[in-house]
Amino acid sequence: MLEDDFSDVLRKAARGNGLDAEALACRSGIAAAAVAGWFRGDGLPSDGEARALALLLGLDPGKLAERAAQGWHPDVALPPDVRHHPHDPHPSNGYLFFLDDGRTAALIDPAGLPQTILDAVADGPFALRYILITHRHADHCDATADIARAFPDAEIVMHRSDAHAIGHLATRATPIVDGDELAFGEHASIRMIHTPGHTDGSSCFLFRSTLFTGDTLFAGSVGGITGPTATYRDIIESVRFKLFALDDATVIAPGHGPPSTIGEERIHNPFL
Ligand SMILES: [Fe+2]
Repeated sequence: MLEDDFSDVLRKAARGNGLDAEALACRSGIAAAAVAGWFRGDGLPSDGEARALALLLGLDPGKLAERAAQGWHPDVALPPDVRHHPHDPHPSNGYLFFLDDGRTAALIDPAGLPQTILDAVADGPFALRYILITHRHADHCDATADIARAFPDAEIVMHRSDAHAIGHLATRATPIVDGDELAFGEHASIRMIHTPGHTDGSSCFLFRSTLFTGDTLFAGSVGGITGPTATYRDIIESVRFKLFALDDATVIAPGHGPPSTIGEERIHNPFL
């Protein structure tokens, strides 16, 4: 199931454009009760109605109409060097990825029950080189202290603007430098990409052909804006100019919902 349904997409775009259901109904000429219902997740608009809303919201009309018709779901598998693990009890995704030696690993977002992550690392068994944190929300970093204690040699990497969320560990975290590469093993690297919008310090990590997007880019949607200063425009520009600059074949591994690819998002994501 996609992370965001039609009503989520509609509400995010409306909030980002400073419009509510009443304003959208007024400007589109669609009955206010119908638009209010779509905001709540009651019913879906017709093709024409979805296109009319898209034009008012700066969304792609064809892609929004496709979403209203529930006509797309990505069918993408993670590459063999990437493993997903749940962040139980949070509804978010964590990932481990590793080098060809089958031992050297990096972790995306330490959150949820620490034992789940410790088991996932022990299952390798992996030598954890990096703890990479996409952003400051608890469902992406609330197990950082436990994981850092278990793997004292692992390097924590997080953007300065969000690092307050990991308390005193912020002082030992390597700050994200947009576009720079972290050395990973002798021949590989991990690219840090600062993508403000969902939070000020939201960042993505690119390893080979996999992009870990946190809550910046989901299959068919983008993250909501949670401040303190980043804006809706920021997240759209982050995705358009930084993530969509990558190859179509790049697999996206998001912080919520199923994997997708940059190519699929180019064709189906109504925000872009
Ligand atoms: Fe988040």
